[in-house]
Amino acid sequence: MARWPRCPHRATTTMSTSFRRALFSSLPIPRTRIDGWRVLVTGANTGLGFEAAKHFARQGASVILACRSRDKALNAKAQIDALLGLAPGTIQVLIVDMESFDSIRDFASSVGPVDGIVLNAGIASETWNVAGDGWERSLQVNVLGTALLARLLLPRALERRKEVAGSGTIPTITIVSSHMYQFADFKRYVKIEGNIIEALNDENIFGTGERSIILIKSKSGQMAPRRYPMTKLLGIYIARELAALVPKASDGNPMATPGFCHSDLLREYNLPLLGLFKTLFARSTETGARTYFHSIVDAGPSSHGEYIDDCRIKSLPKKLFKTKKARELQRKVWDDLMEILEDVAPELKLENAGFGSVKM
Ligand SMILES: NC(=O)c1ccc[n+]([C@@H]2O[C@H](COP(=O)([O-])OP(=O)(O)OC[C@H]3O[C@@H](n4cnc5c(N)ncnc54)[C@H](OP(=O)(O)O)[C@@H]3O)[C@@H](O)[C@H]2O)c1
Repeated sequence: MARWPRCPHRATTTMSTSFRRALFSSLPIPRTRIDGWRVLVTGANTGLGFEAAKHFARQGASVILACRSRDKALNAKAQIDALLGLAPGTIQVLIVDMESFDSIRDFASSVGPVDGIVLNAGIASETWNVAGDGWERSLQVNVLGTALLARLLLPRALERRKEVAGSGTIPTITIVSSHMYQFADFKRYVKIEGNIIEALNDENIFGTGERSIILIKSKSGQMAPRRYPMTKLLGIYIARELAALVPKASDGNPMATPGFCHSDLLREYNLPLLGLFKTLFARSTETGARTYFHSIVDAGPSSHGEYIDDCRIKSLPKKLFKTKKARELQRKVWDDLMEILEDVAPELKLENAGFGSVKM
């Protein structure tokens, strides 16, 4: 099995900075009223997505809980209704399984006008598992599925912008990110010559190369979390390319990172010190979800295509995003994804030609 090199120490330094900020910075409580808005949150039945749905609903929006399990979604809806005493119809449940391209396409065609879209559903996989369409699960959910849904909903968001022009509302798509992108093995990816997404869909390299701040071996003897950092780096590339499809003046497609939070994200791991780590460093999901509200409602025009951390725009490291190599990799990731996704959803071919592209 191929062994990929360790990631640089600098990433650890940046992570500890992030942890310090998570511990000592308080995030603004959502205050802006958004009555009349319609906001969609994927993976809204638990964790950060659930808390974000509550923030949006509390501030006046109607909210679509986009979940893979109807029972879990209805349970979440019942909890939010009971907590906030909402009028019937304020919270709507729609089903989407991010592991299935068909489900994503059906879902995208059933979504009406929306003012905010939070692509939050995500997983951190410990073991190699393949989803129904043939892709490793976290590559499918965090990268391919998220890119497909974002790309299918983009024209909807742009249409909505025209409808609500002048109202002060700017329909926005946010892709949820993570500091963990810093542990992705950038050097390795730039060397891949063929389709990078196909190359990463290989059990022999699953989880090799990425190292984690959690320097503890999991049950299977692997460092954890595996693969997750790569999916989050690619998620940022997707968000930046998506933003580049929209004229900058019309604003509003940032990425939000909630910081390290108490949630079930690492449910597939068996890490002895994870509980201690969480106690020491993690935020509540309620606090982390404020970053989602900020990116959709309060971040404003300057956040277009930017990385939002602690409810502030944070500049991304030059090495991973701004050098010639990094820009080429970002572009390649997008082109390789579109090559795959245009087969899955042929309507994208036409639309991609129509959009053209603005280089960032
Ligand atoms: N927690 C953190 O420290 C942290 C830090 C940075 C970024 N994030 C990001 O925040 C997002 C939410 O994570 P979380 O911490 O709230 O984790 P979580 O509690 O595990 O919630 C993940 C959500 O995604 C949903 N999901 C997973 N696979 C799905 C699929 N195939 N189709 C539809 N929905 C699916 C889950 O649904 P089920 O309940 O049905 O599984 C759940 O609702 C993720 O993108 C994660 O990468 C988290």
